[in-house]
Amino acid sequence: MRKRRKGVREMSANNHPKKIAVLTSGGDSPGMNAAIRAVVRYAYDSGLEVIGVKRGYKGLIEGDFVPLTPRSVSGIIDKGGTILLSAREPRFFKKEYRRIAFENLKEYEVDGLVVIGGDGSFTGAKVLAEETGIQVVGIPGTIDNDLGGTDYTLGYDTALNNAMQAIDKIRDTANALERVFVVEVMGRNCGVLALEIALSTGSELVLIPEHPLPLEEVAKRVVEYKEMGKYHVIIVLAEGYGHAHQVVDKLKKLLPDKFELKYSVLGHIQRGGSPTAKDRMMASLFAQAAVDGIIAGKTKVFTAAKGEEISLIPIERALQKENKIKDKFLKLLESLAI
Ligand code: F6P
Repeated sequence: MRKRRKGVREMSANNHPKKIAVLTSGGDSPGMNAAIRAVVRYAYDSGLEVIGVKRGYKGLIEGDFVPLTPRSVSGIIDKGGTILLSAREPRFFKKEYRRIAFENLKEYEVDGLVVIGGDGSFTGAKVLAEETGIQVVGIPGTIDNDLGGTDYTLGYDTALNNAMQAIDKIRDTANALERVFVVEVMGRNCGVLALEIALSTGSELVLIPEHPLPLEEVAKRVVEYKEMGKYHVIIVLAEGYGHAHQVVDKLKKLLPDKFELKYSVLGHIQRGGSPTAKDRMMASLFAQAAVDGIIAGKTKVFTAAKGEEISLIPIERALQKENKIKDKFLKLLESLAI
């Protein structure tokens, strides 16, 4: 059998082989399984043991742990969702339950915890580390790409491609019947995903919370595009701006009667399916950095991407909201919509 990369086992302070736990929490995102696989295999290769926690913080509170080995994570790199399951666990807001979670980790002799999730999961991770001293490293996993300090969060590229494929289909029918279509996409309070969806689908307009274009202006531009000879107009609507049915109701009042408006809410299809190559790559790189961080004794940090560079930065940075909208993308969308 091939020797572990380091040839020796990483030992904990209590002189047992260093053991880490990994969990996925909050809304799942494509690439979480690829990250679990890479955490497990890279950790084993580095001389660590790994256990998985089922259903995020819920499993941490309930002691729902499963052993993970390089073989138990076979065949999951291409799967959406998460083999460890996920949950949003309100009990974790309470100190008494975080204490129980910590005691469970101690009972299983866990030295460090890798948390894969978004801002809610990172908030929980930070508080747990502060209160109990357990070593915690985060991997950003959310299709919203709404965390501070990192260019990328796992699942974003797959969600972008899922939405692009759906809108490519909507465009066919919008064009055939010369309709104006409002397509609502996810992203919570962040418009980054919507903007890149709009650019990559050649949509005419995008409505995002960071730059909320008034609907009067939207109506004016729709009329202009139609006058330019466009058969269809597609408006990508970030859920953080508003709901599609309400936007369409208002636009109907602002547009000539001859314009036919329809809407579609893409919803959770954006979050499912096989992760793209980018998400599989980023999952592997984030996992490597997270495990190296645990071995180096880092805590309350997460794996942040700046271009191709991955570094460990304080988890607080992820929780500080950043406006990630690139004005040049907004301007380009407008230029290309003619
Ligand atoms: O944070 C990921 C996300 O998919 C958001 O884009 C969306 O607002 C939310 O989760 C939906 O949550 P749920 O799956 O609980 O409906």
